[in-house]
Amino acid sequence: MKLLRQFFQPLAIGAPAPMRDLPVRLERMIHFVPPHMEKMRAKAPELAKTVDVVLGNLEDAIPVEAKEAARKGFIEMGQTVDFGPTGLWTRINALNSPWALDDVTEIVAAIGNKLDVIMLPKVDGPWDIHYLDQLLAQLEARHKVARPIMIHAILETAQGVNNVEAIATASPRMHGMSLGPADLAASRAMKTTRVGGGHPEYKVLADAHGDAPRAAYQQDLWHYTTAKMVDACAAAGIKPFYGPFGDFSDAAACESQFRNSFLLGCVGAWTLHPSQIAIAKKVYAPDPAEVAFARKIVESMPDGAGAVMIDGKMQDDATWKQAKVLIDLAKLVAAKDPDMGQRYGL
Ligand code: GLV
Ligand code: MG
Repeated sequence: MKLLRQFFQPLAIGAPAPMRDLPVRLERMIHFVPPHMEKMRAKAPELAKTVDVVLGNLEDAIPVEAKEAARKGFIEMGQTVDFGPTGLWTRINALNSPWALDDVTEIVAAIGNKLDVIMLPKVDGPWDIHYLDQLLAQLEARHKVARPIMIHAILETAQGVNNVEAIATASPRMHGMSLGPADLAASRAMKTTRVGGGHPEYKVLADAHGDAPRAAYQQDLWHYTTAKMVDACAAAGIKPFYGPFGDFSDAAACESQFRNSFLLGCVGAWTLHPSQIAIAKKVYAPDPAEVAFARKIVESMPDGAGAVMIDGKMQDDATWKQAKVLIDLAKLVAAKDPDMGQRYGL
């Protein structure tokens, strides 16, 4: 086992020291761009003004014959576009693919000082993170990268779910994790062809009462994994995200899937279609009425201790902490979105 004292040491001579804390950033949506398409790259400067993270996708959904063009297109985008405070991420190909090594080496060489996060797919265990961690340190040293590039794992294999806690704590480079419901469904042999969302047959049937019709309630297929991921991430001090929602025609179901994840502790989701950006903005920001109530709690318990009643509801040190979560997030949203700031009264 690596000694705790060594955990924050750079893994290569000349590499920047790993970060002790994650940068505080609003990351309501990670917007996927296929960088081999010139038309899509051309939209990047405008896109960067409307989303929190722009991600150049190199992995699944990019045709085999376009893998190299996607990598080159992403590098060009990184070199030419001013992303301002918007995050610049890439999803590289899986470590066992023919493209992963060139993805990492070419991208870090060309735009290592602009890249915030590498999203790593198909992570099975901490060994995958250790490999990328070491490789990144070597490349950062070689190319004089000043700030460590972070790693975001996709939780999308059964083995990865088994090892989720070890993945979350594998390196100080860990930024967070996203649930990948499509690959995870395949890996577990779940019987669905959907990308996220529910399934009409996954339900609980109310008890029988004679011949009366029985109500059936659809359940959330992703509840267990999302909750497990949120605990692993929160315990490790990194950020959990819901991943993709594939049915672009069903905005209501997308919103509901995003919202369930938000309520459970996730901070954002992937947006694969422009219509999902507004959904993510709406969902991953606290409700102004809840923020108003949270402010009442904090104002009535200035030192965060004791017990008071507000509108008939008991408040104490624990609800003060709950309120603080909402207010801190509202402040982060308000700093980026003045309209929301007004609605929060901040
Ligand atoms: C995402 O990559 C997924 O497999 O759902
Ligand atoms: Mg996947």
